[in-house]
Amino acid sequence: MGVAVRHFDAVVVGAGGAGMRAALQLSEAGLKTAVLSKVFPTRSHTVAAQGGVSASLGNSEPDNWHWHMYDTVKGSDWLGDQDAIEFMCREAPKVVVELEHFGMPFDRNPDGTIYQRPFGGHMSEFGEGKPVRRACAAADRTGHAMLHALYQRNVRANTHFFVEWMALDLIRDAEGRVQGVVAMEMETSEIVVFQAKATLFATGGAGRIFASSTNAFINTGDGLGMAARAGIPLEDMEFWQFHPTGVAGAGVLITEGVRGEGGILRNSSGERFMERYAPNAKDLASRDVVSRAMVSEINEGRGCGPNKDHVLLDITHLDPEVIMSKLPGIREISIKFAGVDPIKAPIPVVPTCHYQMGGIPTNYHGEVVVHGAPVHGFYAAGEVACASVHGANRLGTNSLLDLLVFGKSSANSMIEFIKQQPEDLPPLAMADVERSVARVARLDNQTNGVQVHDARAEMQRVMQTHCGVFRFKDMLAEGVEKILEVADMVAKTEIGDKSKVFNTARIEALELENLIEVAKATMVSANARTESRGAHVRDDAPDTPDTPNGRDDANWLKHTLWFRDGNRLEYKPVNMKPLTVDTIKLKARSY
Ligand code: FUM
Repeated sequence: MGVAVRHFDAVVVGAGGAGMRAALQLSEAGLKTAVLSKVFPTRSHTVAAQGGVSASLGNSEPDNWHWHMYDTVKGSDWLGDQDAIEFMCREAPKVVVELEHFGMPFDRNPDGTIYQRPFGGHMSEFGEGKPVRRACAAADRTGHAMLHALYQRNVRANTHFFVEWMALDLIRDAEGRVQGVVAMEMETSEIVVFQAKATLFATGGAGRIFASSTNAFINTGDGLGMAARAGIPLEDMEFWQFHPTGVAGAGVLITEGVRGEGGILRNSSGERFMERYAPNAKDLASRDVVSRAMVSEINEGRGCGPNKDHVLLDITHLDPEVIMSKLPGIREISIKFAGVDPIKAPIPVVPTCHYQMGGIPTNYHGEVVVHGAPVHGFYAAGEVACASVHGANRLGTNSLLDLLVFGKSSANSMIEFIKQQPEDLPPLAMADVERSVARVARLDNQTNGVQVHDARAEMQRVMQTHCGVFRFKDMLAEGVEKILEVADMVAKTEIGDKSKVFNTARIEALELENLIEVAKATMVSANARTESRGAHVRDDAPDTPDTPNGRDDANWLKHTLWFRDGNRLEYKPVNMKPLTVDTIKLKARSY
């Protein structure tokens, strides 16, 4: 077939925080490591993370990993696996200090320690106290600073970067062992196999399934699409986080760090409405709670602006010096995207799709696990993975932490695995390679097909309308039918431009084939889960003493697994057993 094959010890797909943290660990262990990225590494979506990375350093006030763990379990609405959550919260101070030593330019307290700000859902005293300063920040550009620190370290460690390469498909042999990926060089459209002893997916999220998203255009669920086509289930895909503060009309992120620094959400009468919804944490309640409160205010006629379709984020009472030093990026975004200088006037904001809590099922070692057993040679970390530390709702700043902790732990697992493999790579299984080449050929040969932008716009419209902040039984059922119709459109997409050099039309068509798998997984999983939990809230879930806020632990304290084959669902139990401490017992959730 004439496809070139390149050989590595490890191949990492994705050069955001998780991919680069993992690659650094692998390269420093002396392994020949390839990193494939659609964009230059420091332009990966981690660059957009603003407010901070959580760790209970306790630099400004008392804090400890037990409180962090409690907040994360509660934030997850008890769907998070407690072994993985304990692991993450215990590792947090170590990986953050490590990052500091890699050269990360954190802001500083007067005593020289890392500056920390409060963030939603992070509290003292096992949720009983006040918001605690746990988010370690580099102004409002924490992800940007992190990517640069990790990239420079990787260059020093001789990581092999393949920039502007898109992975197309996972390669598995007849026994299901993973052998690497098929990839396309975007400059030439050449297809090349990257064969490796171990493969890590760190491809980030898929927020582009929705019409309004804080996600970059590159966030097209490539790892999820590849995994689904290779027979790996996707876990808990019904849970999508809507960040409360996207710029109205533009969707660009305004960090929760704004509220951490004292920002207040107000409705059309200037009321600080979060006092009614979350009397203790107020504007710093968890994101699902704040987003729903905002949508309720808008739906009940208390929205702002001529169309009453947003609320206001007010920081006009803050010292302009604080805004300039701690939130300079936010000021710039507000001026450019909302036409508002936040020193003088409040910012118009609406909830916007931000993060997927679900993903490829892994354990806290980063091994991909299906039906209780690790998939030979396959690992995942960061937003593409479901460890599951975020459960039904992620706390802000736990995503940057997730990618550091699980980027490192998956790489450590890969290092041990690779040590046990024979020196020579096994013969390449060609069936998946041929399927992947055929997929690209179908696209190039399609005539009288569907335009990619039409299919993508329809998918985003269906997802936004049928599977948004609030979900409705009938709309979900109809949404399943509609998204399957969109999948039929995607199977017939056509590109007019068949040229080879930097053909972004071909890339967008291939990305859409990944997005549609994520959209199907989301809609089918959401339709099936008949309770409300975390970010998944349905109109038909009864609020009773046994099912507080619609959460039905008797029937739904379990993870969803969606299989592409037959659009089929299975379920698996939540791990309620932490590693060293007592189970954090189920409780109704309020802030
Ligand atoms: O609001 C923010 O700065 C986003 C942080 C996060 O998603 O963790």
